[in-house]
Amino acid sequence: MFEKKISRELQEIEENNLLRIREDRNYDLLNFSDNDYLGLRNNKTIAKAMKKSIDEFGNGAGASHLISGHFQSHTNLELKIANLLQFEDALFYHSGFNANVSFFKNIINGDFDIFLDKLCHASIYDGILSTQSTVIRYPHLDYEALEQKIKKSKKEHKIIVTDSIFSMDGDIADLSRLYSLSKKYKTYLYIDDAHGFGIYGSKGLGLLESQMPADIDKSNIIHLTTFGKSAGLSGAIICASKKIIDYLKQKSREYIYTTASPPYLADGIIKSIELIIDGEKLRKKLNENIKLFRHLINKKQYLVNVYGPIQPILIKNNQMVIHIQKELIKSNIHVAAIRSPTVPLSESRIRVSISARHSKSDIVQLADVLNKSLKHVN
Ligand SMILES: Cc1ncc(COP(=O)(O)O)c(C=O)c1O
Repeated sequence: MFEKKISRELQEIEENNLLRIREDRNYDLLNFSDNDYLGLRNNKTIAKAMKKSIDEFGNGAGASHLISGHFQSHTNLELKIANLLQFEDALFYHSGFNANVSFFKNIINGDFDIFLDKLCHASIYDGILSTQSTVIRYPHLDYEALEQKIKKSKKEHKIIVTDSIFSMDGDIADLSRLYSLSKKYKTYLYIDDAHGFGIYGSKGLGLLESQMPADIDKSNIIHLTTFGKSAGLSGAIICASKKIIDYLKQKSREYIYTTASPPYLADGIIKSIELIIDGEKLRKKLNENIKLFRHLINKKQYLVNVYGPIQPILIKNNQMVIHIQKELIKSNIHVAAIRSPTVPLSESRIRVSISARHSKSDIVQLADVLNKSLKHVN
């Protein structure tokens, strides 16, 4: 019975051109779908730091953090990020997904009104689903609508939640405006900076560094940095007040009941952060590549008004999105075809991800094939 139900669902997914296909990575393809915005994924200096750490501390952590799997490397990483972003404390998780779920499930459970940008990441939604709090979604980046909704809230505890860069649209939040609202209405402010870290701010510390003075009072801010994108590795850190971090260490099942990440990962991230801080040239190259790409696309109406590394091309037709992706593959180029349920059905798109590692000729090659394909889209 159950098997029949899932077969039917799978068939429906396929018929609607929504089947997701997992393939082994093809190294022959020119990749425009990674979130490796600075090209650090293959960086040899980071690899060397990780090899040294393996020699010193072994391959795995051996246990969970609160048993015996917590190494000095993990502490060093937490201290580094907390100091750089000027927060009281920080906690290292396996992934951004895990960290988001952990924070909402454990801290925002119960008596909160949660004000959530409609386009926040799926992991935030998953965390919120496991709370008893009320979720109030505001239209994407519409802070007037948000303020109206906050004004109506009778709850003592409130939190505003936003991504810094929105992962499918590539547009950015106005953190200084959200911070003002959070102070005016005495709310917490949760910032998921998964895509901002590495590329925004003079040291690449993220959108908070780029939009706000470093020394603002952060007692009401909770901040997520992830290391699977610009840092080229994996893992994530929540920065917050010491009380919140202490509480997560005691209560978060996602943190407590899992083997700690290998210490070499923390040491690799520390090296990656050093390269990011010194990464002005990489950020300059990335921005030149983004500008060149936008300049070369002929049908500008398909581009979205965003200037970061995530460049969506709104096709709004599932079949056409898959067709274009196939055309690009024939020319040895891989881009992501994004369809429902990741975005609404009517907003399917090609999501081009630009990196500092792309050469000028890579960008020209991509634009040529895209221009040919877009000729057939009305
Ligand atoms: C905005 C945002 N938050 C969180 C995550 C999850 O991070 P991770 O890949 O480290 O689990 C992602 C990744 O896709 C993301 O785009």
